[in-house]
Amino acid sequence: MPELDSPQRQAPDSLMLTGFWYRALPADRVHRHRLEKAMLLEIPLVVGRDRAGRPFALRDACPHRGMPLHCGKFDGENLECSYHGWTFDVHDGQCQLIPSLTADQDLKVDRIYAGSYPCEEQDGFVWVYIPEPGPQGAGFSKPEEASEPAPVIEKFTDKYKLAYLSAGMPVSIDHGIIGLMDPAHGPFVHQAWWWRSRHSIHEKKKNFEPIPNGFRMSAHTPSSNSAPYRLLRLYAAADSITTTIDFVLPNVRTEIIRAGKYWFSSLTTVTPITRSQCRIDVVAAWNIFRWLPFGPELLKFVFAKFVEQDRRTMELQAEGLKHNPHLMLIDDADRPAKWYFQLKAAHLEAKRTGGEMKHPMAGAVTLRWRS
Ligand code: FES
Ligand SMILES: [Fe+2]
Repeated sequence: MPELDSPQRQAPDSLMLTGFWYRALPADRVHRHRLEKAMLLEIPLVVGRDRAGRPFALRDACPHRGMPLHCGKFDGENLECSYHGWTFDVHDGQCQLIPSLTADQDLKVDRIYAGSYPCEEQDGFVWVYIPEPGPQGAGFSKPEEASEPAPVIEKFTDKYKLAYLSAGMPVSIDHGIIGLMDPAHGPFVHQAWWWRSRHSIHEKKKNFEPIPNGFRMSAHTPSSNSAPYRLLRLYAAADSITTTIDFVLPNVRTEIIRAGKYWFSSLTTVTPITRSQCRIDVVAAWNIFRWLPFGPELLKFVFAKFVEQDRRTMELQAEGLKHNPHLMLIDDADRPAKWYFQLKAAHLEAKRTGGEMKHPMAGAVTLRWRS
């Protein structure tokens, strides 16, 4: 994609990337002996926990005649479909029993599978791996393996607190993600008397560098009007505080702030639910305020405000996007959004050709904007 001085027209493709881990549900919503519904990349899932507490995820459709499996009976190990009683192992989806078969009918039951997905619990969420779409022939394929474990939040001490926040956004994954990395909306969307007003706008200059599958805002002293920074400022000298923000495909933003022995680490994802809906999940871990009873609540309050402001904004934006207007991205404020689209295109191209992914950034870049 050429870099032009004039604004570039952009039409997000809203393609949802397969071959990655996605957050399905908060872990505290998934209980033993109960089945939950979830949707990822337009794939309906039934999610639960076995007797030992290990989570699982199956496609929420019986391979026999498509009955949703969440309507079935679950004994902590196997799930029985509510239509004809076919029974499946919840972890690998393998069929265990077809009640209608007579003793002399030798249909190979164990060759039938309900679609199952690799599933992991990590930092308060159940993650599900969505593999590349396999060859047709559903019902006879063994589950895919994930090539790597689900993302984890980096932690710097043994003791820490963890909290999460989720909000559904009625926009495509692309708008969700570029909204997340957009540096210019802050003074307009995130105003609050205890926070800042649009009069606090000032020029910013940040260095970015390419990293595998993404880009990094290099370690720097955070801008004086960012949330965790203001809180950390109570604990450490301003010049000892550094923050690093990474974005990596398909949807992960990590932010690490360190201030002497204190740290704050977050992993935010924007998860495609359907083509026109996504969900933002912020999970944060920190070792500040551990001794302060209201510390976590304060932090949650600040983030809940922000996420709600973003959610409300995207709800309104969805109205404007309904009839496919032409859109544009400008330099430098929208450059991260351009990188996101370029990374996605490069990833898809590498998949198509089977070659190495060509990173869209040649090297480190300095961006300037006012916010
Ligand atoms: S539809 Fe599930 S057993 Fe028939
Ligand atoms: Fe925001």
